[in-house]
Amino acid sequence: MIRLQEIKMLQTLHQSLSQSIPQAMKVYGSIFNIIRGNPFNLEVLVDSWPDYQTVITRPQKQEMMDDKDYYINSYHIFSKDFEKLPEILGSNSVINWKQSLTIQGCQNGLNEKIRDAVASKAIQMDYSKRFLYITNNAMKSNISKASKHEASTTENVKFRSTNDNFKPSLLDISHAELVNNNWKFGQNERSLRYIQRCLQNFPGFCLVDPEGKPISWILMEQTNEWRMGYTLPEYQNRGIAKQMMSAFMQYLQKSDIPFFTHVEEMNEYAHKLAKAIGFHFADCGWHEWKCTPAELL
Ligand SMILES: CC(C)(COP(=O)(O)OP(=O)(O)OC[C@H]1O[C@@H](n2cnc3c(N)ncnc32)[C@H](O)[C@@H]1OP(=O)(O)O)[C@@H](O)C(=O)NCCC(=O)NCCS
Repeated sequence: MIRLQEIKMLQTLHQSLSQSIPQAMKVYGSIFNIIRGNPFNLEVLVDSWPDYQTVITRPQKQEMMDDKDYYINSYHIFSKDFEKLPEILGSNSVINWKQSLTIQGCQNGLNEKIRDAVASKAIQMDYSKRFLYITNNAMKSNISKASKHEASTTENVKFRSTNDNFKPSLLDISHAELVNNNWKFGQNERSLRYIQRCLQNFPGFCLVDPEGKPISWILMEQTNEWRMGYTLPEYQNRGIAKQMMSAFMQYLQKSDIPFFTHVEEMNEYAHKLAKAIGFHFADCGWHEWKCTPAELL
């Protein structure tokens, strides 16, 4: 695999990947952030250039220092040639199989190929297929125009709350613990550090109660995917998430920032919510492989 570093090449790749949306969604979102300052220190690998077939984004080596950190040790993949994938993915120079890690992609055929890649390795793999949600103009990103996340201003979160007791606000690092404690896939020290980093680098919205405590929130991660959306149980089913997330969507669209999200099959309310605010689901699905080497189990 070739490591693409030159900004012009990354821009060319990003532009080209827009033709493969939604399947290329995860790498497209990662490269968007790499071009805009690369806050998670990711790198881009392609099998050949300029006629690439496979693209992988992953953290740079110095980021993957903790062998048990699934949140940071994450790889995103898109391929137009599944035949060569087992060989590419099986290589330790592409994926560090000695670590616990996650691979994510939005293509139905990936599962079989990733299984082939790990078949001869002592690795426990948990596969999860979920619903990918996108909007019609989710890809209307313009990197040169896209505004930087302006954490210091509340101008971007002005929307009318249907209940005057609740005020829209921006999430910041002080909210990381609250988000982590309520994130089904978090609730540990590593996920807390990951959330803190997301909050420092990407936008997050919330609605706060009169004491200033968030009651509903949503944030973004390094591939521009919405994650960790939550409304405190006592405030659920009052239209709060719908209102707050619609405002988040408008903010991102106005700022030319691409976005998408995913929902687990059985999460009925989250499916309703996604559809109510203008997302529609994409057939290619959202896929994740959580891999743990036998010696780390
Ligand atoms: C999903 C979640 C964020 C929704 O928050 P919320 O503030 O209750 O959402 P809203 O009140 O705006 O409702 C959104 C939709 O879900 C429906 N809904 C929410 N709670 C419901 C309930 N208890 N019973 C029936 N419908 C419900 C609403 O009717 C609405 O659908 P509609 O537009 O078709 O009427 C919330 O249930 C939650 O925090 N769940 C746990 C975490 C989670 O699953 N996060 C999403 C990860 S993708």
